[in-house]
Amino acid sequence: MAQVTIHIPPRSYQARIENGLLARAGTLLADVVPHASKIFVVTVPPVRRRWGTKLLRSLHSAGFKPQIIQMPDGERAKNLKTIETLAERLVRLGADRKAVFIAFGGGVVGDVTGLLASLYMRGVEFVQIPTTILAQLDASIGGKTGVNLATGKNLLGTFYHPRTVLIDPELLSTLTNRAFRAGLYEALKCGIIGDLDLFLRFETNRGQILKRDPVEIEGIIAQSVKLKAEVVSADEHEGGLRRVLNLGHTIGHALEAETGYKTLLHGEAVAWGLIAATNIALTVGRTDSVTAGRIADAVLGLGRLPEIKVNPRKILARLQADKKTQGGVVHFVLPREIGKVEIAADVPDNVIINAVEELRRLSRGGWGK
Ligand SMILES: NC(=O)c1ccc[n+]([C@@H]2O[C@H](COP(=O)([O-])OP(=O)(O)OC[C@H]3O[C@@H](n4cnc5c(N)ncnc54)[C@H](O)[C@@H]3O)[C@@H](O)[C@H]2O)c1
Ligand SMILES: [Zn+2]
Repeated sequence: MAQVTIHIPPRSYQARIENGLLARAGTLLADVVPHASKIFVVTVPPVRRRWGTKLLRSLHSAGFKPQIIQMPDGERAKNLKTIETLAERLVRLGADRKAVFIAFGGGVVGDVTGLLASLYMRGVEFVQIPTTILAQLDASIGGKTGVNLATGKNLLGTFYHPRTVLIDPELLSTLTNRAFRAGLYEALKCGIIGDLDLFLRFETNRGQILKRDPVEIEGIIAQSVKLKAEVVSADEHEGGLRRVLNLGHTIGHALEAETGYKTLLHGEAVAWGLIAATNIALTVGRTDSVTAGRIADAVLGLGRLPEIKVNPRKILARLQADKKTQGGVVHFVLPREIGKVEIAADVPDNVIINAVEELRRLSRGGWGK
């Protein structure tokens, strides 16, 4: 089992990554939260249907008497109303300050349950058991919780860390190919930011990765979690270093918003964002053409991506209005070499526009390559 420590003074915690871990969740939690008065598993119907029985069996055999509470599935349920409804039900079910919540689902369940745990009776403990690849290698690590407002994504939230994160890559076997692949771009991002070895896995073992070879996938998730844990441990509240995790997300977020969150999965938007950031880095002389080519090949080599038809000027306008804009300047994380990035605040508008034009050209016909 791979174990990664997230160092957040005064209390650090472990993320554990292992195929088949779900069956041992009960035993592991008996060590981590032995004092839990009651355990509440927060989940969504698709996850409960596929994996609920296995988790409940494991918790029961460790002596817990878990109760499941379900929330509606999907990003649209990531709002304050859901938090309120869940909290009311928890009160009626007798959840007290010593209750422990388990977030059992994708990033939506994790973000909602984390926020709920931070608010419920001024804070109860919670545990993450992420079930999508995006949640396993990204959303469950780092302690950001949140819900959306009608005016924008993730605008209400807290920093609140789980007691532990249990990651079982076997749960990914029930994901669609598209959702699985979308998560891989986040792992690739981690490699470009700070882990050459992780990046090399994509160059040399692409076939195995796409076939979901269990050893490969466990390794990729463990290395991504390690990278994110290192960054978060050094900069919990995004003072500076943590911003490197936004590689590919500046343009990625703008693409998602401009297409109404309908045509691109988050990871697919990040894939295009990685290519755009790389093109920008090349144009402004921050990286060389060999590095840029390797990144583009690694991204496009994972297969087909949805076509980009947006108006580049509209993307630029969104960037300028984005919350990451500081003092009217758009900050970009740019790759320098594989495993090294830097932050640039001086990217000219026409370079950004050209980078988006290039995405339109590359993606024409709906094929990345
Ligand atoms: N807190 C953070 O640091 C952070 C980081 C990245 C993303 N996020 C958030 O994460 C959310 C996206 O997460 P997501 O992509 O996991 O979306 P999601 O939670 O909506 O899950 C996607 C879909 O997969 C289904 N699903 C979950 N596990 C499954 C399984 N094992 N098999 C089959 N289907 C399964 C879900 O029911 C859902 O329909 C966004 O709201 C985003 O803002 C948070
Ligand atoms: Zn992301």
